[in-house]
Amino acid sequence: MRFKLRNLLLIFSTVCIFLNPFHISGSPLLLTCGPNTGGTDADGRKWEPDGKYLVAGDDKSTAAKAGLQDPSLPSYVPYMSARIFQSESTYQFPLQNSSSRTLLRLHFYPSPYPNVDVSKSYFSVVAGSMLLLNNFSAYITAEALSQSYLVKEYYLTPPRSASLNVTFRPADNSFAFINGVEVIAAPEIFDNEPLLVGSYIDARTFTTVPVTASSMEMSYRLNVGGQFISPMNDSDGLMRTWYDDSVYIYGAGHGVALQADTRVGYKKMPPYTAPLDVYRTYRSMGAYADVNKVSNLTWIFEIDPGFMYLVRLHWCDSEMVKVNQRVFDVMINNMTAAHEVDLFGWTNAIATPVRKDYVVITENVTGNDDTHMWVSLVPTNQTRPEFMDVLLNGLEIFKMSDNVESTLAGPNPMISDLMRKYLEGHRMGLKDFEENDSTIIITFGAGGAAAVGVATAVICVVYRRKRKATAGGDSRTSWLPISWNSNTNTTKSSTAGKNQTLVAISTDAASNCRHFSLVEVTSATDNFDESNVIGVGGFGKVYKGVIDGGTKVAIKRSNPSSGQGVNEFVTEIEMLSRLRHRHLVSLIGFCEDNGEMILVYDYMGRGTLREHLYKGNETTLSWKQRLQICIGSARGLHYLHTGAKYTIIHRDVKTTNILLDDKWVAKVSDFGLSKTGPTMDKGHVSTAVKGSFGYLDPEYFSRQQLTDKSDVYSFGVVLFEVLCARPALSPNLPQDQVSLADWAARNVRNGTVENIIDPALKGTVSPDSLAKFVEMAAKCLADHGGHRPSMGDVLWSLEMVLQLQETYESSGAMEGPEEGRSVEYDRENDGEKNETTGYEENDHTFSLYVNQEGR
Ligand SMILES: *[C@@H]1O[C@H](CO)[C@@H](O)[C@H](O)[C@H]1NC(C)=O
Repeated sequence: MRFKLRNLLLIFSTVCIFLNPFHISGSPLLLTCGPNTGGTDADGRKWEPDGKYLVAGDDKSTAAKAGLQDPSLPSYVPYMSARIFQSESTYQFPLQNSSSRTLLRLHFYPSPYPNVDVSKSYFSVVAGSMLLLNNFSAYITAEALSQSYLVKEYYLTPPRSASLNVTFRPADNSFAFINGVEVIAAPEIFDNEPLLVGSYIDARTFTTVPVTASSMEMSYRLNVGGQFISPMNDSDGLMRTWYDDSVYIYGAGHGVALQADTRVGYKKMPPYTAPLDVYRTYRSMGAYADVNKVSNLTWIFEIDPGFMYLVRLHWCDSEMVKVNQRVFDVMINNMTAAHEVDLFGWTNAIATPVRKDYVVITENVTGNDDTHMWVSLVPTNQTRPEFMDVLLNGLEIFKMSDNVESTLAGPNPMISDLMRKYLEGHRMGLKDFEENDSTIIITFGAGGAAAVGVATAVICVVYRRKRKATAGGDSRTSWLPISWNSNTNTTKSSTAGKNQTLVAISTDAASNCRHFSLVEVTSATDNFDESNVIGVGGFGKVYKGVIDGGTKVAIKRSNPSSGQGVNEFVTEIEMLSRLRHRHLVSLIGFCEDNGEMILVYDYMGRGTLREHLYKGNETTLSWKQRLQICIGSARGLHYLHTGAKYTIIHRDVKTTNILLDDKWVAKVSDFGLSKTGPTMDKGHVSTAVKGSFGYLDPEYFSRQQLTDKSDVYSFGVVLFEVLCARPALSPNLPQDQVSLADWAARNVRNGTVENIIDPALKGTVSPDSLAKFVEMAAKCLADHGGHRPSMGDVLWSLEMVLQLQETYESSGAMEGPEEGRSVEYDRENDGEKNETTGYEENDHTFSLYVNQEGR
């Protein structure tokens, strides 16, 4: 849908002003849809049954109960029950105040329900005369966002009547469903006439857009530089959710997240505007004026082009005490929104909250539909301010209704053909779920689909081992806070693995990588001859091969009888067919003939990083070589996090997934577990915990919320592995040394890190470079993701470490390396004997499903 000029004209001409600012009054309507009795949610809010609001007559709806409780659901009520509409049905909600906007929230949980196929549900929702959703698939939307449930939030214009009708209209031969509805009389939260972005010429020449006639859909709501705020902690009972902004930051410049050290109060601001915590925490650029002068802070968002958006900025400057100290411009899609913002100048007081709205037309001048919106803060020196810095406390983005078509509806998010095929196969596997009140949990994400029954709130680990541990590998496992059993695979997707529907090339993947026939692959590997095996993993084997009469390749073949790893296979193709980077391993193509799952990659002549650290290779990598490898891998990961269209979280960063080519160039590999990161209205991905023991972010482990900082943690473990030349986990060492992450962190704290570095490095490392390296690696291991550096910061620090080392070496201060490297850590100690070269994967990879009841 394209933006039409006549929409704008119409909006400009229908200026009607309702000046009814008032506080939220009366109690909101909270409805749990389907059941005859109400219930209480995890926050203690009471939800009543929806039945009495349905317009009698043609209603043929039925109640249904979700059979599976995803661990990421915030509450049992209202998500675990649903109302299913086979034909058009209407709710009529009484309104407490017919001249205020109505805040309408719709909750959807696209889980399997008995007797219906939720992936085939497509429907429209109309509120009053406004089309909110059209041909909407909650299933596709949730899959695309890697979420198990969805909340849609609308601010509808006053209907001028005592009730609001909301109609659910299934598409042909389909059905509609809903789990929960909230109807709240909203205070007048929007300015009447915000500035049109790009129209500013000078303080008297600009255009404004009246917004009172537009309904709004909340697209993003961020507590910038602060933490997640749950509905219960929102101000004035509006039950909004505020997310952390860091995952939306574009580029390497993340600035610094800070908290006010003066008291922040609302002053003249109505408290419903935002919770005080939004105004207390903020992000700014940092202390280096010279750097700031040439940089900016930018956030990027996915949007529906063709709609206008209202962008709301929340500010509260708790540092500046005079005018012209901190002055900056706000740019949206490279157009000026606000010119020379000087918050002290605006408020004439310190720590005074302000909010400003701006309207953006998202279709660009060339008529291209850009699906992104950039919001940038750029310091200015036009006024010669005392500091070169910017500031932001909160950011909300609302989609504005198209008032000609009376719609807010956009398309469902895109899923590629291959992913769709995979999901269809996956769904067949899900059909046979057992119905059982609260004991069955599932993960229902695009990348990791599995079902495990857990009766109590314990953690169960599905652990796939590459080989049986020999040298007493089990004797010291009791320190792990989890129970584990080897070689268990309960993933439902194993059914889909043998499913022939998977065998098809997606148009996306086909255009980017090659489709090999099984004949080509067998001839490349001498019919999978054992002598060509260069690696073995839980999935099957990796072979060396030759194609096109001389090109060396690595061929990864999933064991066709295991039926395992279909998720990983699809994800790897989906990711690698789109990503090309010097520091990511390249996928040449794949083969899916006969139900095979075979991937063909560039050959990496020097195998994995791990085998050059302590796996018995003769040559010892110098400190400089190690740093160059770390820098290469950091570049690859930084590209994943920020360079692609979406944030991509690798989820399995470890030394066996960093490969080296003939020229020692590091390449990140194995994207089987990776996820496209948080998009739309969530600051993190809720997902079943997957990863590798010894590398796993404790915060991800305990909260199941995945962010790019989980990769930073794992990379921190890699850095210590490189420094200390020992595995991430060494079960046979004394208990306090088993986990490298814990042991290294303890040594850093005690100032004894010199004692644990690889003896082969002794005397070759510049003390400055060592100190900087250790400082940064330790920061990567911070308990809280928010305290860890970004991958961009890590990269920058590593480059500095390398520079320090080079300066040191050229100054001639370096002693000769010690003869005869002593192998401190027995190679057999990590429970895997006879490691060969090549592509070791899944050696400690596991999936973990956590049941958090009543959360
Ligand atoms: C922000 O900085 C980036 C990188 O330096 C630059 O490409 C971009 O144009 C800047 N944006 C604005 C709005 O100044």
